[in-house]
Amino acid sequence: MKLKKFKELDSTNNYMKKHFKEFENYDIISAENQTSGRGRRGNTWFSSKGMALFSFFLKDQNLNIEQYTKIPIIAGISTLSALNKIEKNNYKYKWTNDIFLNEKKLSGILVEKIENNFVVGIGINIYNKIPKEVEDIAISLNKDYDIDKVILTIVEEFAKYYEKFLSGSWENIIEEVNSYNFLKDKKIKLKILDKYYEGIVKNISLDGRLEVEINKKIKLFSAGEIEINYR
Ligand code: BTN
Repeated sequence: MKLKKFKELDSTNNYMKKHFKEFENYDIISAENQTSGRGRRGNTWFSSKGMALFSFFLKDQNLNIEQYTKIPIIAGISTLSALNKIEKNNYKYKWTNDIFLNEKKLSGILVEKIENNFVVGIGINIYNKIPKEVEDIAISLNKDYDIDKVILTIVEEFAKYYEKFLSGSWENIIEEVNSYNFLKDKKIKLKILDKYYEGIVKNISLDGRLEVEINKKIKLFSAGEIEINYR
């Protein structure tokens, strides 16, 4: 587990994917700023100084699709658990890739596959100011935590959860994830391609899908864009 630090990169995920042959399992790169931070579904991840912006490497993982779609969930619970180790707070896990605090987004996760390897990219609002335009939906911890320590604690937590997952303790992990389920009992609208589904969220199922009650029946979703408390 080595941490290589940069002042500025286009994106830590881009850099790690481009140079992936240089990295070993759990190696980390971080940047103080990113000029083209990327989010999921082609979104931009607005980056600024004071955020934790980093990616770590999972080398030569022989995982099938059912296994590797669980990586974002493992990254989410590891981030949440590491943040609680640094200072306890009311963090929630928002299926599939976000950490929320006080109903607002604190952190986002982007997992990408390259050959048999994975790049896990995480952005967290630690001490950065949240721009006015997104104040309603995003939150920063607003505390001068040691960012390197935050990053290392998260990757150490990830290594622990990931080893548990590989040795067959997924059921315990998903149980813990469910105890932090931000969407639980919320009324949501979920969009997949051009179709909309409306219902009440229940648990995250053992295979990592979201259970949504629609007309008294449970439907399982493996992906989708979510709108909460719509009218
Ligand atoms: C999302 O919420 O859509 C995911 C955001 C992921 C952002 C992080 S910041 C570090 C790493 N480098 C990137 O370009 N993206 C991830």
